[in-house]
Amino acid sequence: MMIRTSLALIPLMAVVACGPAAQTGETKTATEAASTELAPAASPAAPAPAAPRPSPEDAKILASLPTPYNEGDLANGRRQFAKCRSCHVIEKGGDNRVGPALHGIFGRTAGTAAGFAYSPALKGAGFVWDGGKLDRWLADPKGFLPGNRMTFIGLKQEKDRRDVIAYIKVESAK
Ligand code: HEC
Repeated sequence: MMIRTSLALIPLMAVVACGPAAQTGETKTATEAASTELAPAASPAAPAPAAPRPSPEDAKILASLPTPYNEGDLANGRRQFAKCRSCHVIEKGGDNRVGPALHGIFGRTAGTAAGFAYSPALKGAGFVWDGGKLDRWLADPKGFLPGNRMTFIGLKQEKDRRDVIAYIKVESAK
């Protein structure tokens, strides 16, 4: 009876002994895997934070803008514009992507970028883009012009909108 019991316990003890060791091994491997995955992802993001001070050229264009855009933070504007970049190009001569090219958007009639297939809502809007219009569009893309096809949640912070508008104005002047 005694012998039987202890023999039966041996495999059980072996399982208990191996259990935590195996688990620790797995956890370590998972952590290592996670850090190796994170490492390459961090490198492309590194150039994103722009120089805190605008270049002399940018500073000059910024100063020439009407209020409140002349007080815009271009570094933040650039960061905010990163959200638009998946769909829009701001550089001069940039092409249409998911969204129309945005270089020189101010002073342009809504829905008129050559070669872009706009929604009927934007095509028929008929207004000219200025800072105030873009501010309202970005504050509430769906509400400002119902039926448009820009699937973007918008920028809730007034300062972020001011800064991104300043950034678009400065980039459009180049
Ligand atoms: C997910 C893609 C996407 C993102 C992100 C996005 N847009 Fe758009 N945007 C579009 C599309 C698509 C249209 C055209 C909508 C239509 O035809 O109704 C558009 C239209 C516009 C227009 C009107 C252009 C014209 O020619 O009348 C402006 C201005 C604009 N976007 C600015 C922005 C800004 C600024 C941001 C970032 C803060 C942004 N968009 C983010 C897809 C996007």
